[in-house]
Amino acid sequence: MNICVLTSGGDAPGMNAALRSIVRSAVKRNIKVFGARHGYKGLIENDFVELDVNSVANIIHRGGTILKTARSNEFKTEEGLKKAKQNIERNSIDAIIAIGGDGTLRGAFDLIKMGIKVYHIPATIDNDISYTDYTIGFDTAVNTVLSAVNNIRETGMSHDKTTIIEVMGRDCGEIALRAGTCGGVDAILIPEIETDFDDLLDTIVCGQKRCKKHNIIIRAEGADISTEELANRLKKATGEDIRTVILGYLQRGGTPSAHDIYISTLMGERAVVLAERYENSKAIAFKNNSVCELAIDAALRIKREPDLALLKIIKELA
Ligand code: F6P
Repeated sequence: MNICVLTSGGDAPGMNAALRSIVRSAVKRNIKVFGARHGYKGLIENDFVELDVNSVANIIHRGGTILKTARSNEFKTEEGLKKAKQNIERNSIDAIIAIGGDGTLRGAFDLIKMGIKVYHIPATIDNDISYTDYTIGFDTAVNTVLSAVNNIRETGMSHDKTTIIEVMGRDCGEIALRAGTCGGVDAILIPEIETDFDDLLDTIVCGQKRCKKHNIIIRAEGADISTEELANRLKKATGEDIRTVILGYLQRGGTPSAHDIYISTLMGERAVVLAERYENSKAIAFKNNSVCELAIDAALRIKREPDLALLKIIKELA
């Protein structure tokens, strides 16, 4: 049996740990592993590299992905998909293990519709894939943001300043919610909830009444008010200068946390077990504290709401 593994979309800490688990689980089962470089682009360009035990040595602790990744618009075209299928067949590949986020899942479904077997491993710092409780990279990103919040708290306290910290997450507020809860911030703005500026201002004013003049607001990048506009409105309302910090790609890098390495290792091995059994295409998930799998078309239909109870807790504790 020949399998091909690829990493696609935004990189996520833990992808390398998943690659290591896949390759070494496969080699133990006499399954040959090819890596496609730069995600789905590698399938289109026939850019494959054979992977062995040594290919994935000393990468378990490294962020990023040794196969590199990309977002391929060509893969969204009939022509691109056809080239990918030709190359998959040319290399006698029996199954694909696609590691990535929601775009990768949609690409996997396109391959399945062409008769290619695909196992999807959810990996994105956003944790915005509904069919699973957890996506690889999320815990590491949250800890990166938490470290920044703690640093900013010190200088904000020293200067009695309010700081807006913008975090990633695309259209999802999970990073903001989790890091904000753990960082004990004063307010969190997320795409899923309309911003109530008066309520936010009330939180700051209540704090001032107990001589608390520093605040931290975490704003998810997809929230309905921009960081700049929020800072301007707060400055106008409070008369104070507002600091802004955009964490950007800091959140994508770094050594994966133990949790991310743990989940990556389990999911990687699971994908190979499914391939060895010639199972139909599956989406691999983390549910009820264990790794499982479900049919990909069912996975695409699942919708998950954010845990808004956290917002209530954060306001109570601010
Ligand atoms: O999907 C992960 C992510 O980091 C999002 O949080 C962010 O909005 C996006 O990728 C950035 O995309 P790019 O890497 O293409 O700039």
